[in-house]
Amino acid sequence: MTTLLEHVGAAEVLVCCGSGGVGKTTAAAALGLQAALLGRRAVVVTIDPARRLADALGVPGGLTNDPIRLDVDGPGELWALMLDTATTFDGLVRANAADAEQAERILANRFYRNVAGSLSGTQEYMAAERLHALHADSRFDLVIVDTPPTRNALDFLDAPSTLARFIDHPLFKMLMLPTRRGLKVFNVAAQPILKTIGRVVGGDVLADAVAFFQAFAGMETGFRERADEVIELLASKGTRFVLVASPRADTIEEARFFAERLRRGRLEVGAVVVNRCTPTFGDPPAKRPRAAAQAALYDNLQELRATFETERAHAASLLVGNALPPGIHTTFVPTLPGDVHSMSALASIRSLLFPPTR
Ligand SMILES: Nc1ncnc2c1ncn2[C@@H]1O[C@H](COP(=O)(O)OP(=O)(O)O)[C@@H](O)[C@H]1O
Ligand SMILES: [Mg+2]
Repeated sequence: MTTLLEHVGAAEVLVCCGSGGVGKTTAAAALGLQAALLGRRAVVVTIDPARRLADALGVPGGLTNDPIRLDVDGPGELWALMLDTATTFDGLVRANAADAEQAERILANRFYRNVAGSLSGTQEYMAAERLHALHADSRFDLVIVDTPPTRNALDFLDAPSTLARFIDHPLFKMLMLPTRRGLKVFNVAAQPILKTIGRVVGGDVLADAVAFFQAFAGMETGFRERADEVIELLASKGTRFVLVASPRADTIEEARFFAERLRRGRLEVGAVVVNRCTPTFGDPPAKRPRAAAQAALYDNLQELRATFETERAHAASLLVGNALPPGIHTTFVPTLPGDVHSMSALASIRSLLFPPTR
């Protein structure tokens, strides 16, 4: 069995997934902190548009689309960023256009400005592109991905192959063709299928879209190649998924859903974290004290312990050896008295996630 600590020590990419509110972002930040303690150069990237990662890391000014380095004790480094889809897309266009003129033509295109960013899949695809770039960035040797709080959190796994299919699609090829033949946008829009689409979305929108794809011509090869590389990276030995759940039945059910989804994609779940368990406050004394006040406290502790044991058994029976392989490393993290909104609270979570071995 590979422990969570071993994954943090060895992985190139760690992806935290699970349902909303279970502590994915907190876990991603704590894994980054642990990686820095191990001497690794880790970067945590959040796809979550909420400012939760900045909160968990105690960065008052918030995070940006470019990684910033955080102050941590330890031989390694911890960096963090918050994905901005539009800025990432602009950067890709600039980096991959044949020349500045092509880049400007795309960036100024109305379809690109108003529609491209909000098309379903663009955000997920940009996340995949960002993962690709961070993985290739020599400043980092571990990329930790914090996924958004929706059931579609794993859509970014599909985004690269969706894009690849789109580029291979005859309609896309047709949109690209006219530039090579020197035809005008106008002529393309006269094609029967596009005429039909134009009637639905409006002629202007269609003309903008066609102009966009034509401006894009030549760049699709690079997008296609990177998409294939991301698909490969996600399935590689260096990528491991960390499933986060809480003892609540619904989040365990979601975790089973994720586990199944990953298994179908032949992606490896490396470890499970069951967060926000009932705290147990250490081991109660061996014998029930006689004094009434102490006896009441003792009963209380016993009760908490019993609740925790029930949660533990419940989570284990549903997940491990069921949706997940029997030997998978599972860590139970108790609920802290307050939210995790500072580096010191995060340090507590880290030490609970990675208890010193006795
Ligand atoms: N073990 C814990 N004890 C106390 N609060 C926690 C714990 N784990 C997470 N939290 C808090 O729960 C909330 C949700 O956590 P978050 O990491 O944002 O979840 P997710 O990313 O899965 O939506 C945050 O306010 C966070 O500070
Ligand atoms: Mg989150």
